Amino acid sequence: MARHTESPSWQMLRSRAGTFRKRHLRDLFAGDPDRFRRFSVESDGLLLDFSKQRLDAEVLQELIALWEAAGGSNWHQRMEAGEAINHTEGRAALHSLLRWPAHRTAPHGVPDVLPAIRSVQARMRDFCAHIHSGIWRGASGQPIRHVVNIGIGGSDLGPRMVDRALAASRRKDLHTHYVSNLDGAHLGYVLSELDPAQTLFIVASKTFTTQETLQNARTARSWIVEALGESAVAHHFVAISTNHAAVAAFGIAKENAFGFWDWVGGRFSLWSAIGLPLALSIGFDHYERLLAGAAAMDEHFRSAPAERNLPLLLALIDLWNTTFLGAETRALLPYSQSLELLPHYLQQLEMESNGKRVDRQGAPVNYSTAPILWGEAGTGGQHAFYQLLHQGGRLIPCEFIALRQADFPLPGHHEKLLANCFAQSEALMRGRTLAETTAEMSAAGMDPAAIETLAPYRVFPGNQPSTTLLLPRLDPYELGRLIALYEHKVFALGVLWNLNSFDQWGVEYGKQLAGRLLPLIESGRMDDAIDSSTAGLIAACRASPDQEG
Ligand code: F6P
Repeated sequence: MARHTESPSWQMLRSRAGTFRKRHLRDLFAGDPDRFRRFSVESDGLLLDFSKQRLDAEVLQELIALWEAAGGSNWHQRMEAGEAINHTEGRAALHSLLRWPAHRTAPHGVPDVLPAIRSVQARMRDFCAHIHSGIWRGASGQPIRHVVNIGIGGSDLGPRMVDRALAASRRKDLHTHYVSNLDGAHLGYVLSELDPAQTLFIVASKTFTTQETLQNARTARSWIVEALGESAVAHHFVAISTNHAAVAAFGIAKENAFGFWDWVGGRFSLWSAIGLPLALSIGFDHYERLLAGAAAMDEHFRSAPAERNLPLLLALIDLWNTTFLGAETRALLPYSQSLELLPHYLQQLEMESNGKRVDRQGAPVNYSTAPILWGEAGTGGQHAFYQLLHQGGRLIPCEFIALRQADFPLPGHHEKLLANCFAQSEALMRGRTLAETTAEMSAAGMDPAAIETLAPYRVFPGNQPSTTLLLPRLDPYELGRLIALYEHKVFALGVLWNLNSFDQWGVEYGKQLAGRLLPLIESGRMDDAIDSSTAGLIAACRASPDQEG
């Protein structure tokens, strides 16, 4: 099979990228008053405006041709049919089954797991009802008022991000906390605020072998036992995992454990029982709306034509910017404080999935894969790193996310927020030439000598591409759609880059080395194979700071 980089579409895009590196976005807008209409798509109130991207209709058609040549729809069918497309781990990627609509039959060939999924969901619903109503109580008879989720990566980021995003829907009588870091400062700080008698821990780990989670869970267990006795564990701990034996070995009974399956990747596990802390926080009905929103996006991805397919368009834009135009990063800029954790969540989803250097055949790729994703909620970033976006001289595609309707509608806020969001994408696109800058300065009555000296500092090159996603509102359903949008985008990019998006071997090596270093840090015994920097750092930590200097 010829490598897809040798296909006519790939070659054509290479040559078009050369042209587009020299074309300015303001010229594209000047040459086409209809540009917004031609390069924006709306689906059920969710608007994707990509008219400020450095592309034209021909580039878009070639990108779509790449998707077709890569067999995109076929890959999607294979994924939904339960094929082990995660071939390096021999696993399927069936997370969309977790939000499968009740009226739809499962795809042909998929093992009949829907009843098992529904049964775990029914247990989650009951559990939420028991906690909320006070049927489930702590060992001393007090109702549960605090839930601490102990997990990391996919067992933390999803529920934590959504819980934060849906603050407007949260229950007032239950407080959720998320502890992920191995640093005792994380768990220690959270525990310092809590009363053991009213606290429930959820130990969330797909594998139930993750060092951070197990250490935090052991410490939390000791905290409960110390305050309430050994028998309190059954009242204050539940687990979520695929590893039933390890859960039992930890001392959590079967009836307090919620299972899921190895065909759910960690970063796609929000839709499984991993969503339990969230369901407790916002209520199970809201949690189901989140699943319904994701299912609606699944259907959109399955059925919308390529030109109107939101996840596919996002993927094609990323491919174009990264692999063809050479962008190394992408800034995610939600103009919504409630979405402040979205960049963190998407860092795992995108970079753990597609930050890969070998293709599906195990051969090194000769093109860039996932860009470095970073960002934070507007408008804070405007007063921090936007300077670099505007005048730092690097190509940094930006993705703005805004809400048509505020989730906390305080008078006077939302219009200003939107004005800032749209002003930034306009400024990044247009820039300001020296002539415009000079004219503005003289219109402001500035002295010509000062204008000459200062004008160069005030020039904006512009031509910084951006996409804006406009959500109708931020509720569980719309957020479900948004998250699934990014999941499908990640999948589509994996197909386009010819990667396995569902493994993560890159995180294993560090874990292995940490296991080797721990006994050395504990004992101070050095190992000849250790480099001088690592040995020096260990020695410095073992020396008491008081003995130094
Ligand atoms: O960091 C690697 C990883 O395996 C992630 O993919 C996963 O989400 C995280 O660790 C946590 O794993 P677990 O849920 O098994 O504790």
